[in-house]
Amino acid sequence: MRSLAVGLLVAGTVLVPTGAANAGTTLGAAAAEKGRYFGAAVGTYKFNDNTYMTVLNREFNSLVAENEMKWDATEPQRGVFNYSAGDRIVNHARSRGMKVRGHTLLWHAQQPGWAQNLSGGDLRNAAINHVTQVASHFRGQIYSWDVVNEAFADGGSGARRDSNLQRTGNDWIEAAFRAARAADPGAKLCYNDYNTDGINAKSTGVYNMVRDFKQRGVPIDCVGFQSHLGTTLPSDYQANLQRFADLGVDVEITELDITQGGNQANMYAAVTRACLAISRCTGITVWGVRDCDSWRGGDNALLFDCAGNKKPAYTAVLDTLNGGSTPPTNPTGNRLRNEASGRCLDVNGANSANGSQMIIWDCHNNANQQFTQNGRALQVMGKCLDAPNNASAGTQVQIWDCSGAANQQWVFNSNGTISNAQTGLCLDVNGAATANGSAVIVWNCHGGGNQRWSRA
Ligand code: XIL
Repeated sequence: MRSLAVGLLVAGTVLVPTGAANAGTTLGAAAAEKGRYFGAAVGTYKFNDNTYMTVLNREFNSLVAENEMKWDATEPQRGVFNYSAGDRIVNHARSRGMKVRGHTLLWHAQQPGWAQNLSGGDLRNAAINHVTQVASHFRGQIYSWDVVNEAFADGGSGARRDSNLQRTGNDWIEAAFRAARAADPGAKLCYNDYNTDGINAKSTGVYNMVRDFKQRGVPIDCVGFQSHLGTTLPSDYQANLQRFADLGVDVEITELDITQGGNQANMYAAVTRACLAISRCTGITVWGVRDCDSWRGGDNALLFDCAGNKKPAYTAVLDTLNGGSTPPTNPTGNRLRNEASGRCLDVNGANSANGSQMIIWDCHNNANQQFTQNGRALQVMGKCLDAPNNASAGTQVQIWDCSGAANQQWVFNSNGTISNAQTGLCLDVNGAATANGSAVIVWNCHGGGNQRWSRA
């Protein structure tokens, strides 16, 4: 389709990339370099979607069932267990060397109808039997179980949430943990909740329970922080996770998703950085693969767009994993990083002559990747980013003496594309290539990852 002869390009700049020696190229590999996992919640109903499976198998080294291991799925009738969908997820993960998180043994939501109608001792017995049966079935295959999910109330009370389970007696949670330990002694046992991401009344209620469990020898190994986040991250997010770790439990980020807005990539980076900074933070799970797979639909809260392209948030996470606890690249910096390739817009060979052509190259700090904005002009090396006059789709972008003309004016669009004011064509990595030295051209705007750029 794009006929430009990329092969004729001379080699790009000779600068050495600044990444870490063992930088991972996928979320799972990069997290593994840091002794952690990076997982996703999955649904078996997507397993025949090729784009979904490609991303899943490439990027993640841990899976959790989004719904398939919940009470309504695993015990639809009392004493009648169905593990087929859960087993499918476990088998897929294990055949690929991925970890599996178990989610969830007891929860006030997604209970089967028969359990919703029970109470008192009858419900307690049914609940503990459920824990025992399910944890026994998956024995030896689960890295960590969310034994109990969302048992604390929102708001300022710090108290338990009212539920049929809570009404069986305040000790229902510890009874569940003891049953889970007996059924699968090899699994880490977690308590999991939301709105516990910062230090607040609810997280302090959980904290007090965990401290009490540790003091009394109730078996608990980890706390899951769902981290379904909006547009701001609590400033004490890391401090909150750390105070739990200091109790002697692991912490895990279990259901991460973040509203897409101006701050999504930064927030994803900050969450990743917090986990890396806590030695007992063993991994991160995002709650779905692509934006369109998310239970939060319109929030576009995940790391891949609906077509499976990597979003800026993805690059932010990957860079943070690879950079250890170093802060991420300045989000308002002067480089323009291409989303699909993760590489930066670069004047080929650092040659400042008129007509020098634009490529992508590993992001670095040299002048041939520094673009300063002057109105709609993008200045680099004393010249301006320039699409040849009346360029047609497929023409390579270059630098030229600044003229102020429309072919040197660039519009930053809200979807991350950058279009030329003269032709309306978008800055595009030719052929959606990702290698160093790939040509940057103008092409009809389609909003794909090879046309999206963020400041870095
Ligand atoms: C959600 C799933 O993503 C949806 O598909 C389902 O309809 C409802 O549950 N906290 C949890 C998860 O612990 O189990 C929830 O998952 C999201 C909130």
